[in-house]
Amino acid sequence: MSKPSIVILTGAGISKESGLDTFRCAGGLWQQVSLEDVATPEGFQRNPALVHDFYNARRAQLRSPEIQPNEAHRALARLEQEFPGTVLLVTQNIDDLHERAGSQSLIHMHGELLKAECEACGAVLPWDGDLSEADVCPSCQGAGLLRPRVVWFGEMPLEMPRIFHALEQCDLFISVGTSGNVYPAAGFVDHVQRCGQGDTIELNLEPSEGASLFDQKRYGPATRIVPAFVEEILSGSYRL
Ligand code: APR
Repeated sequence: MSKPSIVILTGAGISKESGLDTFRCAGGLWQQVSLEDVATPEGFQRNPALVHDFYNARRAQLRSPEIQPNEAHRALARLEQEFPGTVLLVTQNIDDLHERAGSQSLIHMHGELLKAECEACGAVLPWDGDLSEADVCPSCQGAGLLRPRVVWFGEMPLEMPRIFHALEQCDLFISVGTSGNVYPAAGFVDHVQRCGQGDTIELNLEPSEGASLFDQKRYGPATRIVPAFVEEILSGSYRL
């Protein structure tokens, strides 16, 4: 195959070995705080300061020097460099570790921690410091609140038409580090099976909720199994 079209979905598990928490593993974020309070529009309306505190802490952690991309992030960036124009990385993660590893063909379907959004005019702004109710939108001078540019439960993820089109066209769908609990991402493998022709493979620490839907599964830490699988693709030993 000349240049295979590959869609990769990543979740919190790919950033775990970089030092960032997952959501549903033991001690994960949703065992530390209530997602209803910090990851829903209702929670933000009810108590914006609590929501800002939650994301400010995650933004400060992401900026600390010990948080760096790992070998799994770098392997996926290498795959894109080897097949320019035919690899699309769709991440559920709001960290910037894929960008820092070199990935460019990238969609943050759940938004980005290092951006803010104006509730009044919709402006999206780079934001790597703390965010609070006192911050005013530079575009509309603060008619509404600035919020984290993060897609919360009950909101529509970003760029879905582009993602579904890529899933329908791809030769290979790779899912990395996600528990398969949250839709629409959890339904991507089924979409490939029903509407596409690509092979599907799950690379995870343990079987996800959707494990049975994948053609192939490999389990282990992402920093080991992702570089190994990328090497199989690049060496031709994984037949596409
Ligand atoms: N290597 C590979 N996989 C790992 C590793 C690791 N080192 N550590 C954990 N995992 C796996 C876990 O086994 C689990 O299946 O990563 C997955 C993490 O699952 P979740 O914590 O549910 O995270 P994710 O699937 O990304 O959540 C999806 O839910 O709360 C929302 O918006 C949030 O984007 C998030 C979405």
